[in-house]
Amino acid sequence: MPKLEHLRSQRWLARNEFRSFNHRSRIMQMGYDPQDWEGKPLIAILNNWNDFNPCHQHFKHRSEEVKRGVLQAGGFPLELPTVSLGEVLIKPSALLYRNMLAMEVEEMIRAYPVDGVVLMGGCDKTTPAMLLGATSADVPAIFLPAGPMLRGMSRGQTLGSGSDAFKYWDERRAGTISEPQWMSIMGGIARSAGTCMTMGTASTMMSIAEAIGMALPGAASIPAVDASHQRMATACGRRIVEMVHEDLRPSRIQTRDAFLNGITVAMALGCSTNAIIHLIAQARRAQQEISLDDFDRISREVPVLANIRPNGSSQYLMEDFYYAGGLRALMQRVKDHLRLDQVTVTGRTVGENLEDAECFNDDVIRPWSDPVYREGALAVLRGNLAPDGCVIKPSAMSEKFLRHTGKALVFDDYPSMKKMLDDEHAEVTEDDVIVLRNAGPKGGPGMPEWGMIPMPVKLLKEGKRDMLRISDARMSGTSYGACVLHVAPEAFVGGNLALVRSGDRIVIDVPARSLRLEVSDEELARRRAGWKPQPPRFARGYGWMFTQHILQANEGCDMDFLQAQFGEAAGEPDI
Ligand code: FES
Ligand code: MG
Repeated sequence: MPKLEHLRSQRWLARNEFRSFNHRSRIMQMGYDPQDWEGKPLIAILNNWNDFNPCHQHFKHRSEEVKRGVLQAGGFPLELPTVSLGEVLIKPSALLYRNMLAMEVEEMIRAYPVDGVVLMGGCDKTTPAMLLGATSADVPAIFLPAGPMLRGMSRGQTLGSGSDAFKYWDERRAGTISEPQWMSIMGGIARSAGTCMTMGTASTMMSIAEAIGMALPGAASIPAVDASHQRMATACGRRIVEMVHEDLRPSRIQTRDAFLNGITVAMALGCSTNAIIHLIAQARRAQQEISLDDFDRISREVPVLANIRPNGSSQYLMEDFYYAGGLRALMQRVKDHLRLDQVTVTGRTVGENLEDAECFNDDVIRPWSDPVYREGALAVLRGNLAPDGCVIKPSAMSEKFLRHTGKALVFDDYPSMKKMLDDEHAEVTEDDVIVLRNAGPKGGPGMPEWGMIPMPVKLLKEGKRDMLRISDARMSGTSYGACVLHVAPEAFVGGNLALVRSGDRIVIDVPARSLRLEVSDEELARRRAGWKPQPPRFARGYGWMFTQHILQANEGCDMDFLQAQFGEAAGEPDI
């Protein structure tokens, strides 16, 4: 029988004291006997489920499978529901609430008698939020990825989340889609529980969680409704109990090398641009420093191997990726660029976890010699328009805009830009550069996914499908196009983006990693002297706290006071 005195739950439950009597009697109130918990680690299952989150519908029952595993391994499971951030229904942006969920996770782990946690997440911000919170709480933790939904289908055509919504919406605006076709797309594009099945933010972040070592090998690729997903959930339950006995905490797993593994895998996946923000935040919580430069460097070394939408001209989706061998097969292909000695939630190393990994379809997971895109998915640009960096996804845009000069067409807010986009007679050419500002972390607020600015209808009718667009917003990982994102500092806090005027010339050179506004420093200084900040977006509540404390995109959009170096967390009184 393993020793338990060191476990947190023992302080609540094991003492012969009045408080412990109260705690125990209230657990008995739920129908348990002391033999249910005595001598056992208390495992909290942090279930990120609600009826507003279609991607996590299977979680409602999946926690039962986790409990089965915990019981098998001799733990005492209790479910602890968290706020669920359903990406598609939340406004103005789920990122606004990522840190709120992260705080909830951290604080609830601390507040309750928890020895180890199973973190259930997947829909975009939920993965980083659960991991941020657990990283700061630093109790043994295993991530249970929601898994992707089945591939979309309409009238014999495969449909991909997000990517095809954008594509067919443009076609509808161009007048090429009938009403019945449109209804069929609406009913077919999301047809099971699970996360977006393109290589969007959800697939990206679940895969990164596995690559870092926080999820079981292979877990991130299993479709949500596959029976293997239930078995994986049970395995998570069994394993977390062992992890508690081994005292295997996130701080032992999440080294700088582990985060570099995460970036390497992200690049080979053709990851969502959102990965940058979340990984920087998570690394900082783990007291590891990674920066935009790490992403850019690794992006130049590692090609995109996962042939999954929206990268390249792919027809494949996450379901195909799973059948092709999933993330383990992809990690096998980038093995030479991984730090294989890193320990993972299995207690074994990354290298050991990959031992028998195999690829079953070289077109879906390409060999190094035949990549989808020769360089990695993301490029970090700098220049007077983005002194602290910005991001573009060269693997998902037309090549002709990799080097381009055009006239700025500037919008201070989304509604005024939308008017131009919908105007069939707008004065815009595909050589122009649309600039949307005040859509960053403070200005958005919450840095909404407005960065894939829709093509102006006038250009769509001319048959044009791409142009250069720049913003301080993010874009969905399922988006595509020549969209420069995450411009830092954002316009709302007076970044140079705030000083651009319509008609200014903007020069982009992705191979040289530069984005420049052709306006002299003197003229920019003159414009700055006349710039007036807008009033804060929130006067009270969580939004106020968010805008007071949120950091810029290049710093991971965490709250300043949640970063590790800000100070010690509340101590745990011995009562
Ligand atoms: Fe949930 Fe895309 S909306 S993962
Ligand atoms: Mg998304």
